[in-house]
Amino acid sequence: MQQFNYPGYLKHKAAHATFVKKITDFQKDFASNRLGITLDLINFLKDWVNNHIRETDKQYSALFNAKGLV
Ligand SMILES: [Fe+2]
Repeated sequence: MQQFNYPGYLKHKAAHATFVKKITDFQKDFASNRLGITLDLINFLKDWVNNHIRETDKQYSALFNAKGLV
């Protein structure tokens, strides 16, 4: 994204950081038996796949293709 000057880079990077933080927090709670798999977690992951991977991640593909990245 930085190489191709993707205008949404910082916002995208922040979204990934938020995702990593949430999953890391969950993993710690799960490993210490403080938390099981919750509906909130499932919905969060479902939202990530449906909105981030299927929508947001596709927004930069046109720019990357135009810059020669296939
Ligand atoms: Fe992404």
